[in-house]
Amino acid sequence: SNIQKLIEQLPKAELHLHIEGSLEPELMFKLAKRNQVDLPYTSVEEIQQAYNFSQLQDFLDIYYAGMSVLINEQDFYDLTIAYLEKCHQQNIRHVEIFFDPQGHTERGIAFETVITGINRALNDSQQKWGITFKTIMCFLRHLSEAEAIDTLQQAKPFLDRIDGVGLDSSEVGHPPSKFEQVFNQARELGLKLVAHAGEEGPPSYVKEALDLLKVDRIDHGNRAMESEALVKRLSESQMALTVCPLSNLKLCVVDALNTHPLPAMLEKGLLITINSDDPSYFGGYLNENFFAIQSALNLTEQQIVQLAKNSFTASFLDEPEKAKHL
Ligand code: ADE
Ligand code: ZN
Repeated sequence: SNIQKLIEQLPKAELHLHIEGSLEPELMFKLAKRNQVDLPYTSVEEIQQAYNFSQLQDFLDIYYAGMSVLINEQDFYDLTIAYLEKCHQQNIRHVEIFFDPQGHTERGIAFETVITGINRALNDSQQKWGITFKTIMCFLRHLSEAEAIDTLQQAKPFLDRIDGVGLDSSEVGHPPSKFEQVFNQARELGLKLVAHAGEEGPPSYVKEALDLLKVDRIDHGNRAMESEALVKRLSESQMALTVCPLSNLKLCVVDALNTHPLPAMLEKGLLITINSDDPSYFGGYLNENFFAIQSALNLTEQQIVQLAKNSFTASFLDEPEKAKHL
């Protein structure tokens, strides 16, 4: 259809993408074999059957297990270049990717191995395809703030390759307030700041991310819609929300895509972007997220164009770089 072609052809940025969540079952098997790692699955079909989640934690357990095949620098390169090739195919011109260093350092993989492989792929894709990038290191919120501070310390030799910090993993019970000190330290280092908030957690977590962590963007933010005061504040400040439709569906954050809060978010004047979160686990890359939400909600061409533009507006590109896309 015309709207499908529009989605495919529009230049887009992706701002909420966990690189470890782009690990496709085929690559997982290939790396398991290469590194002699045992997987609890014997086929791609078996993996796909395991991807049946009723909440965030169900997914996280499987996501951390999947990471176990990533051992060497080349593995992180192969993972990242596969995602960037998809971006090239989908006309994604800029990416701001998350990685979870603690998911690897906890298993004895050096921080340097992780960042070097990811960064080499990002540089190659910029050379080959012109895809620009930022890199955001996330702290695992189910771990302690002391461990996050230690991770920030480990990142210090590599800050030339890191643009920001984020906060992900199990949300409920791990409020942003738990990470106030490490976010203060990251801010002092000149890093951009983002946090997952209001995916499963209450609106007060979104408020804490703004007031205590002083974030530059909110990841997800769905449950902010429950507070009229918060919506007004997010709208007036044009604070970006990185919304992930297929993720929300698969993790049962919404019952169905046709009841997704996106129309209300746009109606309230929020700066909304569309993203894939963990495309291998949630059944679609960025264009598939656009297709699914467009058809479920009958979004107009104008709304699609706006969402694509918002992805650049909400990015951490500098203003002249942004202007080239807007
Ligand atoms: N880690 C990877 N994807 C995530 C998500 N959607 N929420 C929290 N942590 C994550
Ligand atoms: Zn996420």
